[in-house]
Amino acid sequence: MNILGIESSCDETAAAVYTPDGLQSNIIASQAIHEQYGGVVPELASRAHHKTIWHTVQQALNEGSITLSDIDAVAVTQGPGLMGSLLVGICFAKGLCLSRNIPLVGVNHMDAHIYANFIDDQPEYPLVSLTVSGGHTQLVHVTAPFEHELLGQTRDDAAGEAFDKIGKILGLPYPAGPVIDERSEHGDPSFHDFPQAMLDNDFEFSFSGLKTSVKYFLEDQDNREEFLKNHLDDICASVSHAITEVLVKKLRNAIEHTGVKTVALAGGVSANSMLRRKAEKLAENTGCNLHIPKLAYCTDNAAMIAITGSMMTQQKLYADMDMKPFANLKA
Ligand code: KG4
Ligand code: ZN
Repeated sequence: MNILGIESSCDETAAAVYTPDGLQSNIIASQAIHEQYGGVVPELASRAHHKTIWHTVQQALNEGSITLSDIDAVAVTQGPGLMGSLLVGICFAKGLCLSRNIPLVGVNHMDAHIYANFIDDQPEYPLVSLTVSGGHTQLVHVTAPFEHELLGQTRDDAAGEAFDKIGKILGLPYPAGPVIDERSEHGDPSFHDFPQAMLDNDFEFSFSGLKTSVKYFLEDQDNREEFLKNHLDDICASVSHAITEVLVKKLRNAIEHTGVKTVALAGGVSANSMLRRKAEKLAENTGCNLHIPKLAYCTDNAAMIAITGSMMTQQKLYADMDMKPFANLKA
């Protein structure tokens, strides 16, 4: 089936086409407007989605050399995400499906991050995914397509959220994750020992204390500006070290607990260089095959929605026309 995928859960309006021959196009319109506010403003996000969605879908069809009349199903992010933003994508997708009398597929955004690993690759089941994004941090045991067992997740901030909030404290632009990543490459990860929380718990995470400890650490310096100027790279590297150590230690616990031989990283934070290196070493030490999506498929995109939609159509997992968005993950 030829699938049109649409993603609008947060601040990227994205569309992609996936056919039996693979991914044909992947278009992302990022919303620069949020930078000046240091985070995503939900009302502005939905307005921007509304403004760009038609053009983004047209671009995806053009680049995929396909017309709307050759699309067999529309897959759209159902949640989790910002309610207003999700509604724009869902209403648009429903309109397309109704006008062409083709099926609608409602995709879970977190599942899609995991299945982004299947765009260029064929990971074997069962696998454990460390899904790390701006809104979620989860360890998921995937025994077969859409057979997921949640092993654990964060109790407060997500890993990406920790990068972004700490970046704000350090005066870095939003989203700070990629900037901290880049600066970390030039800094000393052992410059300061920031806390690694909840190491006594196997699969759960907590990152809000780290943010507070960075704040107090800076307040303790006599000349904060001068200190930051001289040591920004070192602080970034130490923060990255603290976050990635916890992620990789818990990933090791999950591998040992489940006995899997396949490991996947997923979500925006899987673009992180230090995390990628540490995960590679872990895979080597545990004899696992490691899968990490291409950078373009780590952060939010519609290619992952389209491929997940394609896998769902194979199992006839279609949605009704009264499908509703969900802002939070279902229990
Ligand atoms: O998956 P994603 O694009 O959106 C959500 O579903 O949340 O993830 C976005 C998050 C942001 O917090 C961003 O700072 C983080 O991923 N991120 C990174 C890197 N690239 C994106 N964090 C650390 N290092 C990176 N290279
Ligand atoms: Zn995401």
